Amino acid sequence: MQFQNNNQRILIVDFGSQVTKLIARRIRDLGVYSEIITPKNVLKLKDFNNVKGIILSGGPSSVTKQKYQSIPKSLFKKNIPILGICYGLQLIAKLFGGKIKASKKKREFGRAIVVKKKKSLLTQKFFKKNNFVWMSHEDAVVKLPKGFKVIGETKNSRLTIIENSALKIYGVQFHPEVTHTNNGSQIFRNFIFSICKTKKNWNLTSQKKRLIEFIKKNVNKEKVICALSGGVDSSVVALLINKAIKKRLTCIMVDTGLMRKNEFRDIFYIFKKKYKINVRLINASNIFLQKLKNVVNPEKKRKIIGKLFIKIFEKESKKIKGVKFLAQGTLYPDIIESKSYTGSKSSKIKSHHNVGGLPKKMNLKLIEPLKEFFKDEVRLLGKSLNLSKNILYRHPFPGPGLGIRIIGNITKEKVRILQEVDDIYIKELISRKLYHKIWQAYAALLPVKTVGVMGDTRTYEYTCLLRAVKSEDGMTADYFSFPKDFLDEISNKIVNNVNGINRVVYDITSKPPSTIELE
Ligand code: XMP
Repeated sequence: MQFQNNNQRILIVDFGSQVTKLIARRIRDLGVYSEIITPKNVLKLKDFNNVKGIILSGGPSSVTKQKYQSIPKSLFKKNIPILGICYGLQLIAKLFGGKIKASKKKREFGRAIVVKKKKSLLTQKFFKKNNFVWMSHEDAVVKLPKGFKVIGETKNSRLTIIENSALKIYGVQFHPEVTHTNNGSQIFRNFIFSICKTKKNWNLTSQKKRLIEFIKKNVNKEKVICALSGGVDSSVVALLINKAIKKRLTCIMVDTGLMRKNEFRDIFYIFKKKYKINVRLINASNIFLQKLKNVVNPEKKRKIIGKLFIKIFEKESKKIKGVKFLAQGTLYPDIIESKSYTGSKSSKIKSHHNVGGLPKKMNLKLIEPLKEFFKDEVRLLGKSLNLSKNILYRHPFPGPGLGIRIIGNITKEKVRILQEVDDIYIKELISRKLYHKIWQAYAALLPVKTVGVMGDTRTYEYTCLLRAVKSEDGMTADYFSFPKDFLDEISNKIVNNVNGINRVVYDITSKPPSTIELE
């Protein structure tokens, strides 16, 4: 999908980092259009007229190996400012004659403090006392290339920020795009405004009109079915498509039996009554449970759920004459964590429901209008489409649902237990006005039975895990610090009210190194 407003753009060359999309995101937040491109496609690019700056992303390659991903050096001769991030910095150093070493001893993962060495346009208003930056590297530049200066250093990497101001080439070893880097946006602000001299030209609300036009044009006179789960993403997709093609949209809600307690029916009525959308509710819980019987492997579960989901859609679509499209609420992060959207090599973490489960030979064409947007951008779109607040600000819920929150094998009884726990937890968060302070909260059921005592009786029951995280877009996250009395009370409430649970634990890991979901 090409954006129209691209009379000036920042190109991001994706070397396959898990967080490349965040670079695009930070730049859009600053009001400038940015586009992600593979190293291969940079070679094919003929017209650089509207390219105001180029950013080289991080990635899993190593310039210390014989084979590594690169770009032609001619790219540096176009008088276009270039900023390398992590691998991008190492590649610049390599191409300009510096030295890079892989070192297990000097590697940096996580937080480091960066210290100023020299003034630079790139770091105006960036340095503060205890400037924490987020690192994720084993290789480091150990010899500066000719013509470059050191702007900042950390304890383990002396050449953390470098520049060649005459050639307008800059590099940072840390990741300014992740929220764990203090003041990281300032690096992008300086790069795109002070160095690349771009003007603000990107505004999200104006994208709504363009998306509706895009849907109208692509769908033409055909019919669409939409996978409606009641989460923000699929709801926004349904409203957008409904605006574009009205009665030619049918929404299908597949009840996998792995949804939250009562949530599905409530959403069904909202869409039917409030938005007057054509919605069909399919109860498929038995078949999902049957197919998942004794399946323990998380990837297998995801694949089974994803495939079955699509199969049911296909079956339903055949009942509606003339359906050609299947609409899905796939987002940017869904795609990058399954397979890099732009085709670069990015290590696979999880197969997301929307992508991994798709059969190769689909009978329906996919329409994914949100695949270049981040969650909170989608919320803004939803707001302008008058989506009810309760759906708009609902925490994200994964496609495979409770299937990936019941660790180990899934049974009807376990689903019941988890639905009860989750319901108590979420209601308590809402009543204590904590829900909207948290980016995502949920309960999971661990496959562990432990001994407890209730009254005078020994119990031997399951353990549930509570998770609550702060995040901006799900790419990185920190656990939420609850007041102690909340943890005391919620633990009591769950154990006292849910048959089958005698222990409650709270997960205090961040992402990375964990992920938000357990499977
Ligand atoms: P992870 O566990 O990868 O989760 O840190 C990041 C965000 O993605 C959600 N998630 C999914 N969303 N289909 C989805 O639509 C999926 O298969 C899926 N898996 C994880 C997760 O809930 C979190 O918000």
